[in-house]
Amino acid sequence: MTNSQNIHTLEQQSFLDVIKERRSVRTYDPAVHISREEMTEILKLATLAPSSSNLQPWRFLVIDKSELKQKLLPIAYNQQQVVEASAVIAVLGDVESYKKAEKIYGQAVEAGFMPADTAKSFIERTVGMYSSLPAEKARQIVYTDGGLISMQLMLVARSKGYDTVPMGGYDQAKFIEAFGISEQYVPVMLIAIGKATKPGHPTTRLPIEDVVFFNEMS
Ligand SMILES: Cc1cc2nc3c(=O)[nH]c(=O)nc-3n(C[C@H](O)[C@H](O)[C@H](O)COP(=O)(O)O)c2cc1C
Repeated sequence: MTNSQNIHTLEQQSFLDVIKERRSVRTYDPAVHISREEMTEILKLATLAPSSSNLQPWRFLVIDKSELKQKLLPIAYNQQQVVEASAVIAVLGDVESYKKAEKIYGQAVEAGFMPADTAKSFIERTVGMYSSLPAEKARQIVYTDGGLISMQLMLVARSKGYDTVPMGGYDQAKFIEAFGISEQYVPVMLIAIGKATKPGHPTTRLPIEDVVFFNEMS
């Protein structure tokens, strides 16, 4: 490990701190810009999330141009964070992600993680199954994987000193139309990202006994 990597590691907050400090932030410093490089790094780390058959169906539309954030504002019911945050990331699910199965499993072969013949049969099976799923099932899968990537993205962002808020409060149909999203992509959620000017308000959680059941749901 080089010296700079060492320092970088020391600067990273502990994982538990990141989890505890993440809070939905709705007031951002509009002067903060996240470089393409840093945004790409955040998204790259987020994509280490697990996904169904490792098909990685997440796609990200990063909206950081101010005129596009203005366009999104009324679609997101005038939630001010849309224009104040450095960017709004639309997390989309690709219902045709199986088309990348060959690339994904090919990479695994190249990396020496999987024998070529195993990959070949995996690809055949995966493409066969995912391409014939009922539309509702395919959407359900990308929503599940989309939720996992979204959470991971928000935690990575926090670990790098950024704040986020996940947003389901927007008109999906209008968003699809305004941003030219084809039927191949299902919007999962919007995530505003930037630097807080005011901390998110504290929230509480249900007592753990209300949500955990051991062995039977009673
Ligand atoms: C799927 C989803 C959609 C949400 N939509 C919005 C939204 O449109 N606007 C907003 O201000 N917060 C939104 N939130 C944030 C929640 O209100 C917030 O996560 C919750 O109150 C708990 O607070 P915390 O995130 O600070 O822990 C959303 C959260 C989730 C998970």
